[in-house]
Amino acid sequence: MSLRESTKTTEPIIELRDVVKRYDTGGEVVDALKGIDFAAKPGEFVAVMGPSGSGKSTMLNVLGLLDAPTEGTVLLDGRDVTDLSDEEQTKERKRSIGFVFQNFYLIPTLTATENVEMPTLFGDDPDARERAEDLLRRVGLGDRLDHRPNELSGGQKQRVAIARALINSPRILLADEPTGNLDQKTGRSVLELFLELTEERDVAIIAVTHDPQVSKYADRTITLVDGRMQDWEMAGVTDQ
Ligand SMILES: Nc1ncnc2c1ncn2[C@@H]1O[C@H](COP(=O)(O)OP(=O)(O)OP(=O)(O)O)[C@@H](O)[C@H]1O
Ligand SMILES: [Mg+2]
Repeated sequence: MSLRESTKTTEPIIELRDVVKRYDTGGEVVDALKGIDFAAKPGEFVAVMGPSGSGKSTMLNVLGLLDAPTEGTVLLDGRDVTDLSDEEQTKERKRSIGFVFQNFYLIPTLTATENVEMPTLFGDDPDARERAEDLLRRVGLGDRLDHRPNELSGGQKQRVAIARALINSPRILLADEPTGNLDQKTGRSVLELFLELTEERDVAIIAVTHDPQVSKYADRTITLVDGRMQDWEMAGVTDQ
């Protein structure tokens, strides 16, 4: 059995059990997630597909402890973290989870390197600058270290956001459309970086995507439809 296969026998690093997410905005009640069971193991790369409004971003937010489920349980490393205080959830999030959001959230006044370093600023971390520069080189931006976001293209900003998500060596990477603004070639290099992270560092990656290229790199693809996860055969049929 290869090393990669052997990692698959370990326990999940993150898990959702029967998660319901209901948004009640006063007038209308929306059940964005209607009972999701999901688990990802260290080193696993899972693609999440499904139509607009099917609950993909909601699922990522619940997995990332950014949004609490209305019902059900979130487990991180086997531990129930659903009812932790905001402060404790923030601590868990910072320690374990990296995010790549659809709209980057880079800080306009900071350079690429400073943006990547941001998540380390409140701790004593003497290597942060070097790691930030290394990560930027890894995503092909070694010649853009001192550029500010408005001096970068959309795809370059996205790659800065990916480098920033990796600065604290997360065990889980949650990404919303990580290749959405990238051309095929740059998209592939980001996906290859993702594969390396899963293989070399056992990072679990959960990536929401409309890009069929992502599914090709992923270990498996799940499909959400109207807040529910399709079973394996259904997902196979609806896959592109
Ligand atoms: N904060 C909120 N308040 C009320 N309803 C919300 C909120 N966030 C999401 N929704 C609703 O929940 C459903 C799921 O939204 P979500 O953002 O998870 O979809 P998605 O699958 O990520 O779609 P897309 O592919 O367009 O990004 C949608 O019907 C949306 O309108
Ligand atoms: Mg979304």
